[in-house]
Amino acid sequence: MDWNEVFTGEAYRYGTEPAAFVARQMWRVAPGARVLSIAEGEGRNAVWMAGQGLQVTAVEAAATARAKAARLAATRGVTVEWIAADLRDYTWPEAGFDAVLGCFIQFAPPAFRAAIFAGLARALRLGGLVFLHGFARRQIGYGSGGPVAVEQLYSLDLLRGAFPGWPVLHQADYDSTLSEGAGHSGRAALIDFVARKPG
Ligand SMILES: C[S@@+](CC[C@H](N)C(=O)[O-])C[C@H]1O[C@@H](n2cnc3c(N)ncnc32)[C@H](O)[C@@H]1O
Repeated sequence: MDWNEVFTGEAYRYGTEPAAFVARQMWRVAPGARVLSIAEGEGRNAVWMAGQGLQVTAVEAAATARAKAARLAATRGVTVEWIAADLRDYTWPEAGFDAVLGCFIQFAPPAFRAAIFAGLARALRLGGLVFLHGFARRQIGYGSGGPVAVEQLYSLDLLRGAFPGWPVLHQADYDSTLSEGAGHSGRAALIDFVARKPG
């Protein structure tokens, strides 16, 4: 997929409001905490989190998305640190964040996904929280968004296995109706996962 092309145009493909998961779960992170949001897209989650008093760093590869994200942040009067990087060659920080977020990052096939999850773990300080949200495997066929390759979709077993020994604070596998711009619209099979880095 050419993500630069996807984000061309004025409309925000996934809307300008945070994913419901983000709005529901970020209470776990105290104001002032440092949050890394990867593959942030057009900024809906980063801008909302910054508005909640979090110090947000957002990584995104597509220049078209970053430009719209910066506009959204300016409109809302919040500050986000934007990093232009492809996660395939991003140098992950070490223990630099209190929380990390991956929201609909299912562009990654399994080996790349494993590298991203390792990077998220590396970026967290001990005791920091990982937040993951995406489509469940049964999303194939729903037609409301997400990849068409089933191996890129999630199950709770997969996510628990990716963070072995991490206490799970929240996990859910459920159907819900998405209304997040043209990109995510309609009934969807979703996974939520929040876990704490041990130590
Ligand atoms: C489905 S969108 C989700 C965007 C955002 N997280 C949200 O929930 O609105 C996937 C995002 O991943 C970004 N992306 C895809 N491949 C990437 C890569 N290799 N490195 C960094 N970002 C990437 C795309 O540009 C796009 O913004």
